[in-house]
Amino acid sequence: MLDSSKNQLLTQVGAGTPMGDLLRRYWMPIAGVSEFENENVKPVRLMGEDLTLYKDMNGTFGLVDRHCPHRSADMSYGFVEQCGLRCNYHGWLFDQDGRCIEQPYEDVAHPEARFRDKVRIKAYPVQARAGLIWAYLGPQPAPLVPNWEPFTWKNGFVQIVFADVPCNWFQCQENSVDPLHFEWMHMNWSVRLADEGGPYSPRHLKIVFDEFDYGIVYRRIREGMSEEDPLWKVGRVCLWPNALFTGDHFEWRVPIDDENTLSVTWSFSRVPKEREPYVQQSIPAWRGPVQDSSTGRWITSHVMNQDFIAWIGQGAITDRTREHLGTSDAGIIMLRQRFLKDIEAIARGEDPKATIRDPELNLCVTLPIADRKRLVEGVSAAEISRGPLGSGRLATDYIFQAGQPREVRTAYAAAMGIPE
Ligand code: FES
Ligand SMILES: [Fe+2]
Repeated sequence: MLDSSKNQLLTQVGAGTPMGDLLRRYWMPIAGVSEFENENVKPVRLMGEDLTLYKDMNGTFGLVDRHCPHRSADMSYGFVEQCGLRCNYHGWLFDQDGRCIEQPYEDVAHPEARFRDKVRIKAYPVQARAGLIWAYLGPQPAPLVPNWEPFTWKNGFVQIVFADVPCNWFQCQENSVDPLHFEWMHMNWSVRLADEGGPYSPRHLKIVFDEFDYGIVYRRIREGMSEEDPLWKVGRVCLWPNALFTGDHFEWRVPIDDENTLSVTWSFSRVPKEREPYVQQSIPAWRGPVQDSSTGRWITSHVMNQDFIAWIGQGAITDRTREHLGTSDAGIIMLRQRFLKDIEAIARGEDPKATIRDPELNLCVTLPIADRKRLVEGVSAAEISRGPLGSGRLATDYIFQAGQPREVRTAYAAAMGIPE
């Protein structure tokens, strides 16, 4: 249980709030690079700030204020030029650093005043990595965008999946350190959703949590599992500050504002050895629905949709004064304590946990990966179908989230060499 002041402290994401300032020390994934193959400007909201993300004709990405500093027109209706984004109201043009580089009327009528040198638009750095656009809203010097090990892998089909989840990000992230829910929410509930009475899946017998440089590792033993199992020997990762990492799959919970979260998945599927070498031309990015429009209820059919139901069900900002934590929640307590300590650390002028500034280290940041051999060395189609962790992964259906577009399904099947 937390008192309400701590609950507020951990859940507020706005600029100037302690947690909002802590979160601003990290790069956040906000869009897919491939989204900008067909459009070049889009509105985004991140940690309570309304912004505009664009890609200019030079191919440079920029992230600027949603509103023009002239008279506040909506910059997401602006248009890009060779360099920068132009407001559609009176044509002021801004570059990715926020400089005003043209004021069409003032530049002609009163060039000597150089009014544009006195005007800036709020602008934040953005970088492309692993098919994602990352934004940094914190103080300079910015740390590096983490180059997590899977971002360096080859011979994989990657897809990026978004969802808008109407609740606070912190309860979503607590789910990243909650292995027990897998047994009930995903395994057993799916049995019942399929109208089957059972059998229920093996019970969890032992769960341990260990903090490491980039997060918290959780390891588990379930009925019938030996201590040689990679899920006990290696485990899975609650990745700092706002992600789950299972080996070939990242899920970030990106705060849109206090009561909304952007779920961002980066999912890697190693193609069978028979398909190598495989080079993916463009990483598709798609957005899945969370609500069933025919019933108005949340979608229950896919793994992450089930998670969304848990998170949303806890309330827009869950009231932690009412909770009763058990021993299975030890990781959640660890997570909260680390954030509370890091709020103090940044107030002392220190870097918070998992800040990466060493370019050498960032060539490839290794993480605990239970299924490493299969992912790094590759396996045949037959082995993929047989392997315990890879079972079923040669199927065409994307099991994690509802709403995969047909063309992504087609591209996946083609990469894997399986019928659609
Ligand atoms: S409001 Fe943007 S140029 Fe006038
Ligand atoms: Fe889950």
